[in-house]
Amino acid sequence: MSKVTVVGAGNVGATVANVLAHKDIVNEVVLVDIKGDFAKGKALDSWQQAPIDYYSTKLTGTSDYKDTKGSDIVVITAGIPRKPGMSRDDLIATNAKIVVSVTKSILKYSKNPIFIIVSNPLDVMSYACLKASKSKPSRVIGMAGILDTARYRAFLATELEVSPKDIQAVLMGGHGDTMVPLPRFTTVAGIPVTDMITKSKLNKIVERTKKGGGELVKLMGTSAWYAPGAAAAQMVESIVKDDGRIFPCSVWLEGEYGVKNMFLGVPVQLGKEGIKKIIKLKLNTDEKKLLKVSAKAVNAVIASFKKMKLV
Ligand code: NAI
Ligand code: 2OP
Repeated sequence: MSKVTVVGAGNVGATVANVLAHKDIVNEVVLVDIKGDFAKGKALDSWQQAPIDYYSTKLTGTSDYKDTKGSDIVVITAGIPRKPGMSRDDLIATNAKIVVSVTKSILKYSKNPIFIIVSNPLDVMSYACLKASKSKPSRVIGMAGILDTARYRAFLATELEVSPKDIQAVLMGGHGDTMVPLPRFTTVAGIPVTDMITKSKLNKIVERTKKGGGELVKLMGTSAWYAPGAAAAQMVESIVKDDGRIFPCSVWLEGEYGVKNMFLGVPVQLGKEGIKKIIKLKLNTDEKKLLKVSAKAVNAVIASFKKMKLV
């Protein structure tokens, strides 16, 4: 694997490219944006960081898809972010058209890339890319769970005064307020989190996690980019390295967890072909109920996408 294209050179896309370059695991990162020379500028700035931070990954920017030719992995971050008061679902009218057109443009020059989707509403934009690309479902993966779990882990680290490195967790469901953090599958250096924190404090952290994206939109007037960019770069890394890592990602489900024909966040193992394996956890009755509510919320937005008749 040597060539990665990142579409959208805005806050998230530029961060994905920059974090990825720092990992020094791919030969080339191409940033694409419709805004004239914007991607060129972002890529040049990142490339000029290479002699300081010691990486060899070549970074270029473009608005011409010809330059994306032969990409192995494509990260789609193109689209508008939320403004205060907006939900991720409010973005569909604009972003669905962008994601469908970007997917088609990519496929003119790259045969069978693995797509990592970041644009919101995430689970539905992953669906849009799958339908527009007609790819194998295991080659279209939505980035949300790594970010949402990272927020949950960071909040827990602050509360427990421990290193975020020691907190492991799983989170499922859609990338929205119905997401399902799973305290039963959360540990602090192997110790169940429920042994280390009161129920009410844990519940508060779960609720804060669900609204974690909105909290940042309120603070900054636009959505987050450092953690989202790092999360997408981590997905690229685990695909390139094929090292068997497991992350929560939004993936096409065909009956797993009782969910069919839609994207939803579940734990998966990533590998050089995309999704290697969907991990099936034994959820209890309450967790199953929450996941069902989340799937229903995502399905309502998929219905709006279908009405747009873009694919
Ligand atoms: P941004 O506005 O900083 O950057 C978006 C870029 O996309 C702009 O530079 C714009 O010119 C470009 N763009 C628009 N249409 C395009 C097209 N047809 N082709 C190529 N480029 C195009 O926005 P930001 O903050 O980078 O967010 C990007 C998207 O990612 C948003 O939809 C946001 O909601 C989403 N997001 C998703 C997260 C997740 O967890 N899945 C986390 C953070 C953001
Ligand atoms: C986030 O969770 C807005 O989806 C974006 O930060």
